[in-house]
Amino acid sequence: MDDFESKVSEAMAAPQNQGEMADADAVGTVGSPECGDMMRMWLKFTEKDGKKVIDRASFQAFGCQTAIAVASVATKLLQGKTTEEARHLSAQDLAGDLGTLPPMKIHCGQLVEGALRNALDPTDSPAPKPQNSLIGEIQSAKPQGIRIVPITD
Ligand code: FES
Repeated sequence: MDDFESKVSEAMAAPQNQGEMADADAVGTVGSPECGDMMRMWLKFTEKDGKKVIDRASFQAFGCQTAIAVASVATKLLQGKTTEEARHLSAQDLAGDLGTLPPMKIHCGQLVEGALRNALDPTDSPAPKPQNSLIGEIQSAKPQGIRIVPITD
């Protein structure tokens, strides 16, 4: 097992900040029609030195181990970041200590990046797609090539 895979396995053994955040200020949901995986991220903001910063982040995923491991690392890494700093984080940045995302796993990191961006800027997202639940969204996902698509309730 290479270093990246062992770190993913480690993160998977005890994923951090998993689950819905009842008092969240923002939520972002994206799906990858390529693999059918989905990710939802919740953010809670606070104010520090006159700036809006991320106080807490959590996630829920129907995805592969890499996406869950990156989301776990990302939710810790986001704490204390200003919204502007968070907007500039790439999938690779969000993977943090996991290391360099292998080419076949880049879209897994992009799923996390997409959920974060959707939570930060829901108005930048395409028209909302009405769905009742994340499960419903997964079941209705249609393969349309390689891209990460924002999904809103
Ligand atoms: Fe789909 Fe990793 S295989 S997010």
